[in-house]
Amino acid sequence: MARDKKLIVANWKMNFTVQEASLFIHKLSSEVKSHRDVEVVLAPTMLALQSLSLQVDRRQFKLASQNLYWRDHGAFTGEVSATQLRGIVDYAIIGHSERRHVFKENDKEIRNKVQAAVRNGIKPILCVGETARDRSEGETLDVIHDQLVGGLANVTSEELEDVVVAYEPVWAIGTGKNAAPLDAKKAASAIRRQVAHLYGKAAADNLRILYGGSVTADSALSYLKTEGIDGLLVGGASLSVPSFAAIAESAHKLEDE
Ligand code: PGA
Repeated sequence: MARDKKLIVANWKMNFTVQEASLFIHKLSSEVKSHRDVEVVLAPTMLALQSLSLQVDRRQFKLASQNLYWRDHGAFTGEVSATQLRGIVDYAIIGHSERRHVFKENDKEIRNKVQAAVRNGIKPILCVGETARDRSEGETLDVIHDQLVGGLANVTSEELEDVVVAYEPVWAIGTGKNAAPLDAKKAASAIRRQVAHLYGKAAADNLRILYGGSVTADSALSYLKTEGIDGLLVGGASLSVPSFAAIAESAHKLEDE
């Protein structure tokens, strides 16, 4: 079952040149061992994906794109499709809050991207999460509900097996203000309830849910131990080899706790 493994995803955003990304992975590979109970995924700049796909040992690290375009090919200047990413990445981060808020992606585009990913054999990591304002107005669960329903519309039960959902409160991303593990637990159970409503309990029980937002090497374990949280989406703390290696290793040590 997919949830037997913890999933640790590094989102490097628009950081590192191709050479820096390659060197980082070279160093990381001697710090992070392959463990059967942990899957480590790296999302570098799109530019580096092809060369890194030849460099990495996929038993140790898998690759993700930070975005993709939902059409498979055609006159879409500057875009990269899931069809072009096929075979290079295993995962794609979709609907990240920076895509939603900086680039104004809406649920319809995000839904199309989720579908493009599954259509091309790429596992989408669908990001959902409320802004500080949504939260102060008590709308956290409504926002998660809408983003989930919007992002998953048209995904079949069979395709859902490949979907990962990341709960990333917008106010926690890159701010150093991480959500309390209890809040992450509540959000994860709301996500699972909603998925159970849409796809049934077995599908919901099987769904992998990540937490993301100012995760550090010190806080990682508290989320990984939280009921309903199956892994982490890490931004800032994934840019340092020692801190990201510590986060990945903490997912493995969980069994010994
Ligand atoms: P952060 O970013 O860990 O720097 O808050 C997380 C993310 O954007 O996925």
